[in-house]
Amino acid sequence: MFSSEVGVRTGQVQSMREFSFSVREFERARKLIHRLAGISMSDMKQDMMYGRLVRCLRAKGLKSFEEYLDLVEADRGRERQAFINALTTNLTSFFREPHHFPMLAEHARSRAGAGAYRVWCAASSTGEEPYSIAITLAEALPAARVEIVASDVDTQVLETARRGVYAEARVRELAPDRLRRFFQPAGQGMLQVRPELSTRIDFKRINLLDADWGLRGQFDAIFCRNVMIYFDKSTQRRIIERFRPLLRPEGLLICGHSESLQNHADLFRSLGRTTYAPVLRPA
Ligand SMILES: C[S@@+](CC[C@H](N)C(=O)[O-])C[C@H]1O[C@@H](n2cnc3c(N)ncnc32)[C@H](O)[C@@H]1O
Repeated sequence: MFSSEVGVRTGQVQSMREFSFSVREFERARKLIHRLAGISMSDMKQDMMYGRLVRCLRAKGLKSFEEYLDLVEADRGRERQAFINALTTNLTSFFREPHHFPMLAEHARSRAGAGAYRVWCAASSTGEEPYSIAITLAEALPAARVEIVASDVDTQVLETARRGVYAEARVRELAPDRLRRFFQPAGQGMLQVRPELSTRIDFKRINLLDADWGLRGQFDAIFCRNVMIYFDKSTQRRIIERFRPLLRPEGLLICGHSESLQNHADLFRSLGRTTYAPVLRPA
């Protein structure tokens, strides 16, 4: 049996773990995920990190964290991506923070007739958020062209999002008419998002840390919810600065419940409830 570790900060890892995970190895892994995905992990996350990475060691048949971290550092592809996938936190749900969706609907209606309505969902996780956006826009703008880019750094959650198949329990909160219109039975207690929604969404891997996001044109709304909390202040600032030119002057930036932009008032002004508009500079 493997028990969890006691006294992780002493540098003496007292554990009955399958693999030793020293403070030095924790520091190394912590620096690596910060460099690769911007994710800051506090001292308290050593147990969590062990729990998530140990599966990668087992899968590769490795004998130590040192060996594993050497592999991840040397690799530019699969192992590196698997390391990132293991350390992201992907909690999400349909219509999470529901107050944002009527605001989106109202904004979309006010822009009707102004060409395609474009949304970037910048940390889309397993898809519930971009599908909630697509449902809202299908109802608000039934005849309009809607384009949604849904991105995440984690390739595994993107696969789930692309598939669009969810357990009935996950969609239970949706109103019955929405369920009927936007989902079809997929067997074994699962429901699949209908093409009416999925064809409006372009799923792609984007690391918010990357110098080039590969996005074209401007968006009417950017959803960047519950991901900034994992970044340090300077990373947050760099990303927020880059959102501004990607938003139309009348666009919306929608953040998560604990992500205030009050320190970036030179770039975005609050519209209430973690929704922001770009500050327009005089011409
Ligand atoms: C807690 S989930 C939030 C999902 C959704 N936005 C919501 O509010 O329900 C955070 C997501 O951010 C993604 N993420 C973390 N670091 C990222 C980065 N550097 N670039 C893009 N996505 C990132 C994670 O993979 C994860 O799916």
